[in-house]
Amino acid sequence: MKMTDLIQLKKEKKTLSKDMINYMIKNYTSGKIPDYQMSSMAMAILLNGMTDEETSNLAIAMKDSGDIIDLTDIDGIKVDKHSTGGVGDKTSLIIGPIIAHYNLKFAKMSGRGLGHTGGTIDKLESIPGFKVELSKSDFINQVKKINIAIIGQSKNIAPADKKLYALRDVSATIDSMPLIASSIMSKKLASGSDVIVLDVKVGQGAFMKNIKKAEELANLMVKIGYRANKKVSAVLTNMNQPLGNYVGNALEIFEVINTLKGNGPEDLNEVVKEIVVQILINSNVFKNKKIASIDVDNVLKSGEAYKYFEKMVHSQGGNVESLKDFHKQFAINKKEIYSDYDGWINEINALKIGNAAMILGAGRQIKSDKIDHSVGIQLNVKVGMKIKKGNLLATIYHNNKGLKESDKLLRESIVINESPSKKQKMIYKVIKK
Ligand code: URA
Repeated sequence: MKMTDLIQLKKEKKTLSKDMINYMIKNYTSGKIPDYQMSSMAMAILLNGMTDEETSNLAIAMKDSGDIIDLTDIDGIKVDKHSTGGVGDKTSLIIGPIIAHYNLKFAKMSGRGLGHTGGTIDKLESIPGFKVELSKSDFINQVKKINIAIIGQSKNIAPADKKLYALRDVSATIDSMPLIASSIMSKKLASGSDVIVLDVKVGQGAFMKNIKKAEELANLMVKIGYRANKKVSAVLTNMNQPLGNYVGNALEIFEVINTLKGNGPEDLNEVVKEIVVQILINSNVFKNKKIASIDVDNVLKSGEAYKYFEKMVHSQGGNVESLKDFHKQFAINKKEIYSDYDGWINEINALKIGNAAMILGAGRQIKSDKIDHSVGIQLNVKVGMKIKKGNLLATIYHNNKGLKESDKLLRESIVINESPSKKQKMIYKVIKK
């Protein structure tokens, strides 16, 4: 087999066989196929597409290029969830403890943030002492004991994807549906879970800007999961405005604690609830969606799942005492932003808010940037709210870095209009096989 022949086939819109895809990924990972050939193939795929079968085979070949997490030692149903990335998205940290409460197993590897989106691992590191690196046996034993562990991504998960993603980034081939779907699913299939729920974010602050594209991606990923014998469903959720009221690492942990104790904001509760319900139905804990939904609502309101968060923090070396008044972890400098007008909140641009938080130091512009866990933005308003001149819109918590620029972006991101606007719909669609 020769890579040039495979490129030629894809150039002619032909289908690549499973053997061809395996050959390509194996030899690209080992370095026998050079970047320039793979780049040419990526562009041919972007222009001419792939069948669902080719896309699944590509995901599986990339999954097989590295470690596959073996969770078979853990009894029970292993659950994973994945978000395509957003602003203020702290759902994993709420969903995990709820799942643990239902005696399902949440053995999760998460990533760090890049650009305007935050990462679960960075958020956890804002808890003093919290260890995001555990040995494999400690990770497994913790899940066996308390049903939940969240750690950083193992370095050798889907190395073919790592290499290909970096290449796509510099060859204008990121935005290809089969390449995105296979990239995300290669890592999910390597996670060793039985049930996977994908939170596909849609809107200004998300990778997918419209529902049609997000639905296409979700369908493709669900099909890949099905072919790999996993129970996968996808929930399309709103990412036009930030999720919840806090953006920034320690600030988001504060909101996680409040939400798990039954005091979460409505939009965050709704997204968490829908994803948990999908997990519970796919894991056969409930057969009926309505009953599942009422039960999850009760768990959220009662604060019962919070103890699993505390157990995880304790088990991973974090300071449990600090959780009691976690606002003490926020930066001490505050700048409050007030409304100059009467009116309705029409828009809170998630992308701009994400960037405003990043500029303060809450996120990374490039991978090597160090982040400041204590800085971020608290939002006091949501789209659809009626406000008066002089009402508090938001508070910036800062350490004197990037304040001016962040303040400007934050003010630009909140659009106030004279005409009423509607509260935003949070769940657009659920997609399953
Ligand atoms: N996230 C991924 O992991 N891969 C992509 O291709 C796009 C987003």
